[in-house]
Amino acid sequence: MSGRVVGLVAIVTGAGSGIGQASAIRLAEEGATVICADINDKAARATSDSIIATDGRASWAAIDISDSMACSDLVDKVVADFGSIDILVNNAGVNLPGVFHEVSNETIDRTLDVNVKGAMYLIRAAIPHMLKTGHGSIVNMSSVNGLVSEPFLSVYSASKGAIVMLTRGIALDYAKQGIRCNAICPGWVDTPINYAHADLLGGIKHVYETIGTFQPIGRPGTPREIANLVLFLASDEASFITGSIISADGGMTAQ
Ligand SMILES: NC(=O)c1ccc[n+]([C@@H]2O[C@H](COP(=O)([O-])OP(=O)(O)OC[C@H]3O[C@@H](n4cnc5c(N)ncnc54)[C@H](O)[C@@H]3O)[C@@H](O)[C@H]2O)c1
Repeated sequence: MSGRVVGLVAIVTGAGSGIGQASAIRLAEEGATVICADINDKAARATSDSIIATDGRASWAAIDISDSMACSDLVDKVVADFGSIDILVNNAGVNLPGVFHEVSNETIDRTLDVNVKGAMYLIRAAIPHMLKTGHGSIVNMSSVNGLVSEPFLSVYSASKGAIVMLTRGIALDYAKQGIRCNAICPGWVDTPINYAHADLLGGIKHVYETIGTFQPIGRPGTPREIANLVLFLASDEASFITGSIISADGGMTAQ
């Protein structure tokens, strides 16, 4: 089999939907064995099944990444079953928007537990295995909101800003040991994670009609457009790139 990540083993979190699903499919198209991990077990399995149906290599796992033990167990099981963990795509996330002084403790805790601590738990579990093989690529899904904020997104933005600095820290700590770590900052991409935020902005129809006012390209991104960048960063084509925070946002942060 030929491909840009052939023979490599990848975990993609949030692989049941949107950007994670597209990333799992894209990595599998280029030869990786992909473990599709998601809190939604049916969705994780559906992505894995669709990869296998097109002659790709995949498996799936039900996991809540806010559970540190579950993250270690997943990584250990993947290494036991498939021999290594070469690519980790920390993509699963939640966006629970609201007026800041009204947000609940639950919203703050869930956002940080999933978006920040989940990525930390998985990276911490994966690194010892990557150190043994002397290589690894970690791709963290931040957001334009890790760089700039928007109305109703203070808690989410804080979590995505943390991912930017986590990415830089990991990149520095392991730069000499063959492990690269980068983050992607997508603009508005057409997936369900945005629907609650869209409701606060006047509805998804209104947002898409006026998207050119904040995303210069004038349309939402597609999950596959982000997945193409995940694939590039995961592959050896990005061998000199670590600690980078790369926007894929239709020009949003160029303004
Ligand atoms: N869609 C956008 O416009 C956009 C923009 C910037 C960043 N992002 C980021 O991209 C990532 C993927 O989002 P998406 O747009 O594909 O959304 P999505 O809602 O389509 O997918 C998110 C997936 O994560 C899973 N998930 C949620 N909590 C989980 C948990 N605790 N453990 C495991 N899985 C969990 C969900 O079940 C879902 O399948 C997120 O980190 C999001 O913040 C999205």
